[in-house]
Amino acid sequence: MNVRIAPSILSADFARLAEAVAHIEAGGADFVHVDVMDGHFVPNITIGPPVVAALKRVTKLPLDVHLMISDPDRYLEAFVQAGAAMLTVHAEVLPHLHRTLTQIRSLGAKAGVAINPSTPVAMIGDVTAQMDHLLVMSVNPGFGGQTFIPHSLAKISAARDLLAASGSRAAIEVDGGVDRENAAAIVRAGASILVAGASVFGMADAAEATRALRRAASAAA
Ligand code: DX5
Ligand code: ZN
Repeated sequence: MNVRIAPSILSADFARLAEAVAHIEAGGADFVHVDVMDGHFVPNITIGPPVVAALKRVTKLPLDVHLMISDPDRYLEAFVQAGAAMLTVHAEVLPHLHRTLTQIRSLGAKAGVAINPSTPVAMIGDVTAQMDHLLVMSVNPGFGGQTFIPHSLAKISAARDLLAASGSRAAIEVDGGVDRENAAAIVRAGASILVAGASVFGMADAAEATRALRRAASAAA
């Protein structure tokens, strides 16, 4: 499986985002993962469309924007206009997920659904045709640097089976506590996009940490 690495800038120095992105580009990252938090859906506040637009100006990497906000429908257009290539919304806050995903695609971005550790995979069973990726949260969202929840491995496999059964080609993205120790197991379980914050930007050399994560992930093959 072709594994793609999406370092999360949540653990980067927010005063030096351009440098952070340059480092992961040098390390061969596939995407820049951008964590948007509203202090309502999650107990933390981060960034909004102006920062996404600023990132867009300094990188060619696609921006993978993860919306941890209570009312994503209000902001889809703003984030796509700011430069989001992938837009991921949480199933827990969307009663009309089918409509939201259709809207993201019509705006020209890849549409993804994120599910929290306590949300069953079955939640996305009826929208697999509208999804380009499924983001399985392997920590409770809100903060970087948390520990990977072991049950996530079984959940990733269940997600892989559900997507295969419905004929979906949606990629499985895993977010939270991913590092070079668990990367191979996560890929073996069925993930093909690895998000990593602390294990990339918490290291002295983010470029080398990005490469090391890819090497670790490819050990799954
Ligand atoms: C958590 C965010 C993650 C986070 C991952 O709420 O969605 O993207 O930045 O960071 P690490 O890899 O440090 O768990
Ligand atoms: Zn994230």
